[in-house]
Amino acid sequence: MTFGNSGSEAVEIAMKHALLETGGQTFLTLDGAFHGKTLGALQLTSNKALRRPFALRGFRVRRVRPNDMQHLEATFTSVRRPAGFFFEPIQGEGGVRPVGREFLGRIAELCAEHRIPLIADEYQTGLGRTGSFLASHAFGVRPDYIILSKALGGGIAKISAVLIDRRRYRAEFDLLHSSTFASDGFSCGVGLKFLEMLEDAFATFARSFNRELMWRSGWGVSLYRWDNSRRSLRGTGEALRRGG
Ligand SMILES: Cc1ncc(COP(=O)(O)O)c(C=O)c1O
Repeated sequence: MTFGNSGSEAVEIAMKHALLETGGQTFLTLDGAFHGKTLGALQLTSNKALRRPFALRGFRVRRVRPNDMQHLEATFTSVRRPAGFFFEPIQGEGGVRPVGREFLGRIAELCAEHRIPLIADEYQTGLGRTGSFLASHAFGVRPDYIILSKALGGGIAKISAVLIDRRRYRAEFDLLHSSTFASDGFSCGVGLKFLEMLEDAFATFARSFNRELMWRSGWGVSLYRWDNSRRSLRGTGEALRRGG
């Protein structure tokens, strides 16, 4: 696990480790993705107005059309040295758009075939915000790297974390990546307390079936769908938006 102070920093950490691990040079991501605004993370972000003025040539990024199986297959076929596939299970800044289960499953298979990490940016969807600890797991995939932040700081600490499968983690990364203010005692203490409270909240939820908690943890969505069956609703839990 490698710590940072923001979501963008965590994305950069994941990029660095993936480059080191694979020796690849091209990252794959989805159209509509948002992964942050630092120089590296910005290259993965879709929004051209944010990205264009700072476009880099050091590594490449190929964008896949979400839920377009043919485009996905064609992109994997045409990329020569892939380094990793970044995705948000539900695109947040991109308009609260969940990635299809089957599509995500195929991304995971292709990553395994090409021996590149599947990298879940769970900044907006992880840590119980969409009803399970990680949205990826609810969508049926097990990412190789997981990016967490946002809720981890409990609204008071600036903390992010990248969890990397231990079979992939390169020991030299400890030295290759560090940051003065990362993994400070205060932020990590808040993060641990947050995880404890989250565990309690899930336990309470399981016991009491409280409507408020049901809503917050994603179960409310099915009720909402039932109540509003003629309106379209995207996402789940805290990542929710009405409209087409
Ligand atoms: C999915 C995702 N990744 C990364 C980031 C960047 O995080 P930060 O603003 O903390 O740098 C964001 C911010 O909204 C995000 O939604």
